[in-house]
Amino acid sequence: MKKIISFSGKGGVGKSTLLVLMLKYLLEKFKDLNILVIDADPDANIGDIIGKEIHFKETIGGKMAEFKQKIQKRLIPLDVSKDQIVESEVFDALIEMDQFDILEMGRGEGEGCYCSINNYLKRIIDILAKNYDVVLIDAPAGLEFFSRKTGQTVTDLVIVSDPSKMGIHTMKRILEVTKEVELKFENIWILGNRFPENSLRDILEKEVANVKEEYVKLLGFIANSDEISKMNIIGENLLQLSTESLAYQTAKQLFVKII
Ligand SMILES: Nc1ncnc2c1ncn2[C@@H]1O[C@H](COP(=O)(O)OP(=O)(O)O)[C@@H](O)[C@H]1O
Ligand SMILES: [Mg+2]
Repeated sequence: MKKIISFSGKGGVGKSTLLVLMLKYLLEKFKDLNILVIDADPDANIGDIIGKEIHFKETIGGKMAEFKQKIQKRLIPLDVSKDQIVESEVFDALIEMDQFDILEMGRGEGEGCYCSINNYLKRIIDILAKNYDVVLIDAPAGLEFFSRKTGQTVTDLVIVSDPSKMGIHTMKRILEVTKEVELKFENIWILGNRFPENSLRDILEKEVANVKEEYVKLLGFIANSDEISKMNIIGENLLQLSTESLAYQTAKQLFVKII
C-alpha cells in the first residue's frame, strides 16, 4: 500500500481537522503502518490540533533560514550541491511522534518567502514518500501548491468544502486548476464538512454530479460536531476524540472508501 493523500480547500473549512481524523482512523485500523504527516499550510499547524508544540527552528522554513545564515557566514563548503543540502535538511526536520512522523513546512522568513518553501514541496514528497506507507498532506489553502505541480505524485486529493458559497467556489477553482496544469490523481474526493442533514447537501451533490471527469467523486458529508468544537476550544488533542462520536463514526465510513 502506498497512498499519498492531500487535503485541500478554502481556509477554515476543516482540512486539518479532517486530516487528523483520518490519522486517527489509520492508527486504529492498521497497526504497523509507517505514516508521515506533512504540514504544508502556513496559516496554522497540525501540532496545535494534536497538542504538540513545534518551534520555528524545527520546521523546513526554520532549517532553510539557518542554512542561509551559514552561507552568508561562509560556513558551507562550496562543493556541496543545493539538492544534497535540501535532502539533509528534510531528514533533519522530521519530528518523530510515537506512532507517526511529522514534517512541518513552516513559514519562510518574512512575508512572501513562503513560495520558495512550496518549491521544495514536490522534491520533499519524492524524497520522503519512499520511506512511508501513507503520507498525509495538509495543503495550503491557496492554489500555488498545485500550479507549481507539487501534486504530481499525490494518489488521492480530498477537496473539503463547507456549506458556503466561498467554500464551494474554492472547491471548483481547485478542480479547474488540476485540469489546467494536468495534474494526475487517481481520485479526487469532494468532502462536505459541517453540512447539516438537509437540502444543503443536495447543492454540493449537484455540483459534483456536473463534473464530467469520472475520477472526481463525492466522498460524502460530515455534520458539525459539538465534540470537535469542544476539543478545539479547550485545546485538547483531537486524536483523543471519542471513537463513539458521530463525526468520527461518519468520517470512518467515508475514509474506508479511500484506504
Ligand atoms: N465537523 C466539524 N465540527 C465542528 N467544528 C469543526 C468541524 N470541522 C472543523 N471544525 C472547526 O473549524 C475550525 C477550522 O477547522 P480547520 O481544520 O482548522 O480548517 P482548515 O485547516 O481548513 O483551515 C476549527 O476551529 C475546527 O475545530
Ligand atoms: Mg489547517
